[in-house]
Amino acid sequence: MKTGKTFYITTPLYYVNSSPHIGHSYTQIACDTVSRFMKKSGKGDVFFMTGTDEHGEKIEEATLAKGFKQGEEQRFVDGIVPVFKKLWESLGIGYSFFIRTTDDQHIRSVQAVLDKLHKDGAIYKKAYKGWFCTPCETFWSETQAPGGICPDCKRPVEKLDEENYFLKISEHQGWLIDHIKSHPSFVRPDFRRNEVLGFLNEPLLDLCISRPKSRMSWGIEMPFDRDFVTYVWFDALLNYISGAGYPHDMERFNGLWPCDVHVIGKDIIRHHAVYWPIILRALGLEPPKTIFAHGWWIVKGEKMSKSKGNIVDPFEIIAKYGVDAYRYFLLREVTFGMDGTFSEEAFVARYNADLANDLGNLLSRSLSMVEKYFEGKVPKGRVEPKFAAKLASLPDALEKAVPAFDFGTALSAVWEAIGMANKYIEDSKPWVLAKEGKKDELASVMLTLLEVLRSAAFSIYPFMPATAKNICAQLGIDVDLDAIGLRDLAGQPALKEGAAIRKASALFPRIENQP
Ligand code: MSP
Repeated sequence: MKTGKTFYITTPLYYVNSSPHIGHSYTQIACDTVSRFMKKSGKGDVFFMTGTDEHGEKIEEATLAKGFKQGEEQRFVDGIVPVFKKLWESLGIGYSFFIRTTDDQHIRSVQAVLDKLHKDGAIYKKAYKGWFCTPCETFWSETQAPGGICPDCKRPVEKLDEENYFLKISEHQGWLIDHIKSHPSFVRPDFRRNEVLGFLNEPLLDLCISRPKSRMSWGIEMPFDRDFVTYVWFDALLNYISGAGYPHDMERFNGLWPCDVHVIGKDIIRHHAVYWPIILRALGLEPPKTIFAHGWWIVKGEKMSKSKGNIVDPFEIIAKYGVDAYRYFLLREVTFGMDGTFSEEAFVARYNADLANDLGNLLSRSLSMVEKYFEGKVPKGRVEPKFAAKLASLPDALEKAVPAFDFGTALSAVWEAIGMANKYIEDSKPWVLAKEGKKDELASVMLTLLEVLRSAAFSIYPFMPATAKNICAQLGIDVDLDAIGLRDLAGQPALKEGAAIRKASALFPRIENQP
């Protein structure tokens, strides 16, 4: 049983056969947002783990394809991992720990797990005849891959005829089905739960967990048989416990496990929702609380692939439009869980509408008026009651939506307030109030606008940390946004009368040239 209150969230470990793309960055941004939010919610610490999956046939092939020799895999992966780390740094991903499956500690954990399962009689050896899909790193039985085509990626599979080690899986089918049915939050979204249950309608085959070194040697040696290495998925899944301290630091581990949420893409749900809980059960450990599978980003109706040359490079997009616009677009454009289409046209349309017009203009217009009518100082006034109520409702709206990965609803709530404020400028016509000398009314309008901006900045911080800080700086608020709690949002009014605003350049300059 978990002893601490640490919220534990993970991303998948990315294969390092090539550079990261938009799909990888999607999970990172979602996890970073939830992790920043949970830190603010005052419910305890957060442990956010990400990393890289570095063993297996796919990486071995990529090593050779890139001109390295067999045996130089470590050198090859050492060259790619920094590209991932650099992207995460550019995107402001504040993970707690980066795990590599080639880390000594991880290797020792995997071997300890294998030893335990072997001693417990959960692992046995037998001849294996069947298919293997290298791009998916997945074994398929002869009937699962008819015609030698991978049922997942539709590419040709390789025929295997080799002795291997297997983990006993079939005996776990019953309790797993019960667990999935009785724990509605175990597999999310709901439609994915049905997909997993559908998969469990068929009898489960024991899981092959090794590869003979004579065929593929880039992996973690099986501790009880040095002629074999560990199957890459078995090695990789174990990161979720090895990185939490299993079995070398059980005190830390007990404070983290069971993991609160594994965030993954829809293509790897079977590995996470079927094999992973079974491996854990075989070790006497609890399953994770939630596995949340998001959808895929596609481009012009197609999956991204090197051969089609349609891979969206996050480095390019953020160099052109900025990190926060990228983070915002990914989390706002598509309901988390569903597939989405990425196009630069859609990106620019949303950028101009939501960021340049709604948010950016509200800030620059409001600050210009405060400069003009109140010498750039926060005026003494009263926040319009309908705005006070709307702003006070934001923490609850966010608390409901963000931990549930309902980013669209959370952002809509904030943009409603922004929209109301823009309309309020048109309706209240501050320039007329100024002309008519209605100074008190004008002061209240200004204060209302500034409070909406303050509230918006606090609320969007988990999504767009740099923008939130920029808005606070322009509002003249001296606050450590990394430390402030969610509930501090509700305090009205929080701007200090007489404090100087510091208007700076446009947050999101309008993009005139459509791509
Ligand atoms: N190494 C395994 C995961 C092991 S976790 C213990 C793996 N790696 S991967 O690099 O191929 O994929 C990592 C993640 O990226 C997966 O969750 C996958 O769904 C996600 N994506 C890859 N392409 C994607 C899109 N086009 N869109 C969204 N996510 C996608 O699988």
